[in-house]
Amino acid sequence: MRNLAGVLPDVEIAAIAPVIAEIEALKKERRAVVLAHNYMTPDIYHSVADLRGDSLALARMAAETDAEVIVMAGVHFMAETAKILSPARTVLIPDLRAGCSLAESITGADVRLLRQRYPGVPVVTYVNTSAEVKAESDICCTSGNAVAVVESLGSERVIFLPDQYLGRWVASQTGVEVILWNGSCIVHERFTAEQLRSYRRDHPGIRVIAHPECPPDVLAEADFVGSTAGMISWVDRNRPPRVVMITECSMSDNVAAEFRDVEFVRPCNLCPHMKRITLAGIADSLRHLRYEVTVPPAVAERARRAVTRMLEVKP
Ligand code: 13P
Ligand code: SF4
Repeated sequence: MRNLAGVLPDVEIAAIAPVIAEIEALKKERRAVVLAHNYMTPDIYHSVADLRGDSLALARMAAETDAEVIVMAGVHFMAETAKILSPARTVLIPDLRAGCSLAESITGADVRLLRQRYPGVPVVTYVNTSAEVKAESDICCTSGNAVAVVESLGSERVIFLPDQYLGRWVASQTGVEVILWNGSCIVHERFTAEQLRSYRRDHPGIRVIAHPECPPDVLAEADFVGSTAGMISWVDRNRPPRVVMITECSMSDNVAAEFRDVEFVRPCNLCPHMKRITLAGIADSLRHLRYEVTVPPAVAERARRAVTRMLEVKP
């Protein structure tokens, strides 16, 4: 059992040992790799995940892997991005219902209408979107590189889609005028500034770090704002005695296991989409090579331009 000791109770580890062993055997047989987002539950994150990270890291890993099969332990847009970047590989997602409220908020037709309304204004699209939306965009970004991507365009004005809060945060960091869409994340929009103030009242000295998908008044209360990987690096660099991560709840469980000297106060806002991915689902996915994620080649080619252009931006 790779890294589960001390992460889960021994009895739970014993119970999941057979499915983990089966996944490991299937990975060898299929020449497969499991890419896991930081929001996976600890049983996945600390065991069968070959590579772990935020959306940006997962995209880079998908582009670079020489595995024949990529199992995306994350949500559908992450699997689509992997397929766009690695068209020759078989990309699987263990549960097709693993969507994203941001990706569902906008269509390719919406982007075409925005372009008509704001001719010549570059379109920056968060990777939390469908391949069809990426295909209509000039460049993609993730929460880890959104500021650098917008700055790389050298434009006074951009259309930023679809997360209104990430868009506002980018505007505040760059001074670029940002035309927004009204998408939001069902997990991060629920945090309130008062909640953050109450963490500070109840836990004196606590450091508060937040994901940029949170509303602006929440971000204004935070000591640091960054992507999921950015938050992990911040904890690693700063080693605060106490911290609260204002993001999906599995993050704290995963990271707490790696930084035993840091006390994690754990908010619990679950992403129902991420939680569709389970060890049993990953085993089934590898056993039956399901559910394969495909992108029509013409759409993939246009989306690849926007994603590759993002990967070329230096952080
Ligand atoms: P990151 O790219 O920061 O991991 O965020 C992905 C996501 O879905 C956040 O809700
Ligand atoms: Fe989408 Fe929010 Fe879930 Fe991330 S946490 S996958 S942005 S719904």
